[in-house]
Amino acid sequence: MYKYEAVIFDLDGVICKTDKYHYLAWKHIADELNIEFNQEINKRLLGVSRMESFDIILEKYQGQMTDKEKIKWTDQKNEYYRSMLSQMSPDDILPGVKEVMESLRCDGIKLGLGSSSKNAKYILHQIQLDDYFDGVCDGNDITHSKPNPEVFVKTAQLLQCEASRCLVVEDAIAGIEAAHAGCMDCAAFGSIAISSLKAEYNIHAFSDLLAVFRK
Ligand code: BG6
Ligand code: MG
Repeated sequence: MYKYEAVIFDLDGVICKTDKYHYLAWKHIADELNIEFNQEINKRLLGVSRMESFDIILEKYQGQMTDKEKIKWTDQKNEYYRSMLSQMSPDDILPGVKEVMESLRCDGIKLGLGSSSKNAKYILHQIQLDDYFDGVCDGNDITHSKPNPEVFVKTAQLLQCEASRCLVVEDAIAGIEAAHAGCMDCAAFGSIAISSLKAEYNIHAFSDLLAVFRK
């Protein structure tokens, strides 16, 4: 028997590289508002909701903005972002993702998706992974985004799996914190696997995930 009964994947930056589209869309908005925005600030947006991301960007804004204006700008950002998502295809799935998911499924492991994004289902459709998950919970299903554990707790409920038997795969610090706040172990993927030693496992290639199960 394996230590984990389910794997809950983050979407942006784990299943596919949508982060660059988020960055470009925010950069567009920041330039229009004449706000300094760079890759360093962008790192703080990983895993957090659209409005919380905008609040972080607005830390560099000199003026005042009403809630109504904030909604207008975040809607505009989402339009830019979705026009980029409309170009996505299965080619945008990160290397090894499908093979690893298929292998885990063959071993009887349940697969879940826990994302802060309200565009998650659209992205899954674009990359044709709609049918790969036993449970999907996204930004439309939650009140609090990562580092709050809500998205992972709700995904675990959909999978009917206890927190201690779920392994979360994340590329954001906020996501690792969310997993831990939900009493779940976490495998850090991508650059945080190098820069942070907060997670139980650090994986550099997706196939490393299989070693977590097979050791
Ligand atoms: C997360 C991203 O997956 O989704 C964040 O890491 C983003 O950067 C958040 O802000 C919300 O995304 P969306 O698609 O609802 O604007
Ligand atoms: Mg992510």
